[in-house]
Amino acid sequence: VTVTGLARRPLGAAGETISAIGLGAMTLTQVAGATDADQRRRVVHTALEMGVTYFDTADVYGPAGGGDGVNELALMEALRAWSGSLDDVIVGTKGGHLRFPETDTWWVDGSPRHLRQACIASIRRLGLDPLPLYQHHRPDPQLPYEESIGALRDLYDEGMIRRVGISNANVEQIRSAHSILGPALVSVQNEFSPSVRSAAAGVAECEALGLTFMSWGPFGGMRQAKSLGEGGSAFAAVAQRHGATPHQIALAWQLHLSPVIVPIPGASRPESVRDSAAAAAIRLTDDDMAELDR
Ligand SMILES: NC(=O)c1ccc[n+]([C@@H]2O[C@H](COP(=O)([O-])OP(=O)(O)OC[C@H]3O[C@@H](n4cnc5c(N)ncnc54)[C@H](OP(=O)(O)O)[C@@H]3O)[C@@H](O)[C@H]2O)c1
Repeated sequence: VTVTGLARRPLGAAGETISAIGLGAMTLTQVAGATDADQRRRVVHTALEMGVTYFDTADVYGPAGGGDGVNELALMEALRAWSGSLDDVIVGTKGGHLRFPETDTWWVDGSPRHLRQACIASIRRLGLDPLPLYQHHRPDPQLPYEESIGALRDLYDEGMIRRVGISNANVEQIRSAHSILGPALVSVQNEFSPSVRSAAAGVAECEALGLTFMSWGPFGGMRQAKSLGEGGSAFAAVAQRHGATPHQIALAWQLHLSPVIVPIPGASRPESVRDSAAAAAIRLTDDDMAELDR
């Protein structure tokens, strides 16, 4: 197995690191029947071969009609089928969302009771105790944020989770979570892509607090991802100069914007994973960055 020199970035402020580009596992099971177990293994094993060490899932990810751990189970099956060591791998899952199968609507429940139940269910499904990284999926507007984060603090103090992350959090919520969790909080996972650029304040806060900023949907989400380089986009122009793909430039652009950013692109094909992981080696110039930031 050839493990390339995929660059690494800090995970939180305690000296730990993860690969500069992770793998979002959601795409592996989002569309029913889109991948079979063999293809999922090839995607995940390609990521491992490329040096990816961070794998992102959630209890609710799965095909329309409800997730209920489908993605967590599929990811672990693929990881456990790897013949090499998984010592360096960090699986991050999330709790705090619910899905109603009848209508396939998503809802949030940030109550301490739900988060505890969800955490226990994820520990069982993943077979990882404590959970390496447990992320609060989305703030619950019905509850004070501190109540949900306090629940994660309890789970951490009881030894059920090793590291805590938050997701879809604004600057105020990032500060609040950091004040409650201290060094237990290592990451913030927010949307950030060429088409959704409102992440800057969150990234700056992560830099100030020593947190990793994981960007979800780095190509604009799975529905938009394929159109990234279309329509005379700057990403296509810069890609042509570097002999790269627009998707690689989108990832390289994020990595150049801040040392705390770790994009977690999703993929259902090994080719996508290979292409994305190689983006960590691209060096953009100031002119490239100015063109992409316009
Ligand atoms: N925290 C949250 O609320 C939240 C929300 C959404 C997503 N997420 C996380 O973020 C991850 C990524 O988001 P996402 O999957 O929605 O969107 P995305 O990463 O922007 O797009 C995924 C799509 O990009 C394509 N792709 C990947 N690498 C490529 C490459 N190098 N060249 C061309 N196409 C490429 C994939 O195609 P193929 O399928 O053909 O390989 C896939 O369909 C998810 O898996 C999940 O873990 C978190």
